[in-house]
Amino acid sequence: MARVSVTVDGTRYVDEVEPRTLLVHYLRDQIGKVGTVVGCDTGNCGACTVLMSGPDHVARSVKSCSVLAIQADGCAVTTVEGLADSDGTLHPVQRAFHEQHALQCGFCTPGMIMATVDLLRENPHPTEAEIREGISGNLCRCTGYQNIVRAVQQAANGGAAPSAAHSAPVESASAESASVESAARPVAHSPAVTS
Ligand code: FES
Ligand code: FES
Repeated sequence: MARVSVTVDGTRYVDEVEPRTLLVHYLRDQIGKVGTVVGCDTGNCGACTVLMSGPDHVARSVKSCSVLAIQADGCAVTTVEGLADSDGTLHPVQRAFHEQHALQCGFCTPGMIMATVDLLRENPHPTEAEIREGISGNLCRCTGYQNIVRAVQQAANGGAAPSAAHSAPVESASAESASVESAARPVAHSPAVTS
């Protein structure tokens, strides 16, 4: 076993982990961050994407099934559960996914949102081609990506919806909205452990 100290969504955790434990399994199974999901466990789908910052304090997206928990020792990790404000106000990217109906089943959504946050950090005003390239590591089986691209455009526009010229057909919002809000809703934290 190895001891890790990781700050997740603003709370510091100190835990013993198997050296082979993947970060995604640590997040889900040991500290209850089940908003981060496992799609493939092989680094292909991006569903497990979180933000991780190291010594330079820049939060970059990583596929948490491709990172060992011990590699996150000393790092800060942000999951989809840590994006919204403490009063429940959605992050602009979450709000854009909600308003643009950028999901159907919602399984890809936590990872897609985290990848988008990193994309816009690196490139605040991406072209459509840059958006498609930026989220190319995140697979969605449902949406055809049109509304996801529109959501990224809206977030990049400071919350303004993209022009109608780029509109795509919009499906019913009710289930999608619930899914985004569910993905954003903080869960009860495991008791923080301090060393
Ligand atoms: S679970 Fe598919 S990339 Fe991590
Ligand atoms: S995989 Fe279902 S909404 Fe993307």
